[in-house]
Formats: sequence, structure tokens, C-alpha cells
Amino acid sequence: MEALRFIFRLSFALLVMVLHNKHHQANGALHSHTQLLVDEANNDGPYLGLVIPNLFEMNPLLQSPSFVSSNFYIDAYGRRFRFGTIGDKKVILVMTGLSMINAAITTQLLLGLFSIEGVVHYGIAGNANPSLNIGDVTIPKYWAHTALWNWQRYGQGPENELALESNGDYTRTVGYIKFANYTTNITGGSSFDNSLNNVWYQPEEVFPIDGTPEDREHAFWVPVDSNYFSISKKLEGLKLEACLNATTCLSDAPKVARVERGTSASIYLDNAAYRSFIYGKFNVSPVDMESASVALICYQQKVPFITIRALSDLAGGGSAHSNEADTFINLAANNSVTVVVAFIEQLSVSEALVASPPYISKMA
Ligand SMILES: *[C@@H]1O[C@H](CO)[C@@H](O)[C@H](O)[C@H]1NC(C)=O
Ligand SMILES: *[C@@H]1O[C@H](CO)[C@@H](O)[C@H](O)[C@H]1NC(C)=O
Ligand SMILES: *[C@@H]1O[C@H](CO)[C@@H](O)[C@H](O)[C@H]1NC(C)=O
Ligand SMILES: *[C@@H]1O[C@H](CO)[C@@H](O)[C@H](O)[C@H]1NC(C)=O
Repeated sequence: MEALRFIFRLSFALLVMVLHNKHHQANGALHSHTQLLVDEANNDGPYLGLVIPNLFEMNPLLQSPSFVSSNFYIDAYGRRFRFGTIGDKKVILVMTGLSMINAAITTQLLLGLFSIEGVVHYGIAGNANPSLNIGDVTIPKYWAHTALWNWQRYGQGPENELALESNGDYTRTVGYIKFANYTTNITGGSSFDNSLNNVWYQPEEVFPIDGTPEDREHAFWVPVDSNYFSISKKLEGLKLEACLNATTCLSDAPKVARVERGTSASIYLDNAAYRSFIYGKFNVSPVDMESASVALICYQQKVPFITIRALSDLAGGGSAHSNEADTFINLAANNSVTVVVAFIEQLSVSEALVASPPYISKMA
């Protein structure tokens, strides 16, 4: 009933939208007609926001029978916000485009324009964890952005203060990578160095919505929502697709794996040495190009979020001559969608339980 009413209202709004679709915002402000549609949509909120990096990750959800499209969308600031339902949940889907800046802009727009109760981010990722396999779907507890760097001058080391460290701008607490450790093909002599020296990982400057504007805080490991994370435990054991086609299947049946950590950077990682370093240093499983960005926005806006990332390749750690994503990208994208849908169903179940606990309905 509720869902029907919702679809009806959105169909009306769709009509309005079709009539006014020619209007685009200018000078940074939303066109008044777009604002009207946003207001109309928000009357039916709140929504669960599904933030999706690329088309090949969004398409399997658009095609999934679990997603009921309301055939309504709002275009704003170069993004398309698509409305529908998954089970009892009203959802807005939005594609960010590749990498950290796109993911941050799009997530901030979603949270700024719409009434959003929580964010589910999903997609594919590289796998840095040797105990996991391609096709597995990871749900990390923490995310960090690992490409805010302080690149130390040659000749200095861990005992030297970084530039602007005394201002509180940079820190040596997170750690560093030493390029000389990755020198190859040394002939003659056991001592070597590298003028690229050291790169120190830095926490992000953040400005939480409940903080003082312009008064920075810092964040490196950002936790996902603890309630969402505990709900995700119910997804362990979910059956996932193991076959690319009728003849080619993964050797290990893929599984849902709740893991400690994932990292993101605007870097496509296809390098065994860095993969091994980042696993050893940070104990990360998925490595991708958007999740930490979504995490940092939701963290600052105090909106619950979780990230679901299916492993499509070994981030450079495989024995093959080319990156495995070429082969497994669609299987991984499909598996991420399977887990997202199951998560949203479990979220509805757990909210229904909170709204009317079983012992209350027994008493009635
Ligand atoms: C560099 O390699 C040495 C020797 O293996 C190791 O002890 C050290 O932790 C490495 N340092 C970094 C920053 O990777
Ligand atoms: C390093 O040595 C390996 C094995 O001998 C060789 O295949 C490779 O081309 C060399 N790399 C460089 C940069 O010289
Ligand atoms: C199945 O996929 C594999 C890997 O991409 C490919 O080599 C093979 O030709 C495909 N088989 C069929 C029947 O399409
Ligand atoms: C992924 O799902 C789509 C339908 O959404 C299907 O057409 C495609 O065959 C699936 N691909 C794999 C590799 O499972």
C-alpha cells in the first residue's frame, strides 16, 4: 500500500518533470522546477541512498527483479537520482563516476538534496588479502583514504619532523612507505637507496556537521555504521554466483566476508609490491577508488553507511599476465548486487523487529 502510494506520487512528479525537463540549473543554484521535484520526492522520504561508482555496477541492480523502479528520476548537477523500491525500502540510486572526487561530490549532493536515512555503497574492488578469493564479497568495518601524502625530502627519515608537522597539518603516526625497499635488480654491493625516499600517509582533515565550522578534526580509519555492520552478519552464508558462463566457474565458491579494513585512493592498483605492502601495513582486504570517500562524507554528515565490495581481481598480486578484472568484472558486480539486495531486506527485517518486538505482539 505504502509502496503503491509512493509510486503514484512519484508518477505524478514524473509527469511534472517531463513537462519541465528542459530546465537546467545555472550559476550553481537548482532550477526552481528541479527544487519542486526534490521537495515532492522528500515528502515521500526518507530514502536509503545507494551510491554506485560505475554503470557496469549499477546495471545489474537496474535489471534485478528485486529493484522496482518507479520510473522516476531527478537530474541535478550532472547526476541522475533514480527512484524505486527494494522490498519495503524506498531507495535512490545514484552513479558517481570513477574515483574519490566524483564519489565525494555525488554523496554530498545526495545527502544535501534528499531526505536520506542511510547510505549503502557498493561495487567491485581489488583484493589485497591473500586469504580471500575473486568473487568473494567483502564488508569492511573500517575505511581509510590512503593517498593523502606527505612526501619526505631525500636524506631525511622517520627521525625527522615532516614539513608543517609542527603546525598540526601532518603527522608521522600513520606510517610510511620507503621506496628504496622496492628497488630491484641490484647488481654488486648490498647498499642502495632511492631518491623518491619516503611517503607518509596522512589522515584526512574533516569538518563534521556537529563540529565548529573551520575548526578541523582529523580522521584516518572511518568506521561503518555499527548497526548496519551487525546486520550484515546475517549475510554470511548467502549463496553467490560462482560461474562466468556454462563452462567456466571459480574454483572456490564465493562467499560474503565481513573483514576489518578496506582502503581507497584515486589510484587503480595493479602492482604486487604495493598490494603486499598495503596488506602488511594496514591489514586491508578490498582496495578501491571510492569507498573511503563515501565513508568520509557520511561520517562528517552523521549519516549511517556501509560498503559492500565484491572482489574482481588481485590488485596486481595474481600470477596471470593481465589483471583478472577483465574476466571477472561482471561476476563480481552481480555478486555485489546480490549482497546489497539481501542487506536491504535484512535491514527492513531488523527495523520491523525494533518497531514491534515479538514479545509485544504476543501480549496484544
Ligand atoms: C623496509 O624494509 C625493511 C627491511 O625489510 C623493513 O624492516 C622496514 O620495515 C621497511 N620499511 C618500510 C617503511 O616499508
Ligand atoms: C630485472 O631483472 C629481471 C630478471 O632478470 C628482468 O626480467 C627485468 O627486465 C629486469 N628489470 C629491469 C628494470 O632491468
Ligand atoms: C566462458 O568464459 C571464459 C572466460 O571468459 C571463456 O574463455 C569461454 O570461452 C566462455 N565459454 C563460453 C561457452 O562462452
Ligand atoms: C550478471 O547479471 C546479468 C543480469 O543482470 C546477466 O545477464 C549476466 O549474465 C550476469 N553475468 C555473470 C557473469 O554472472
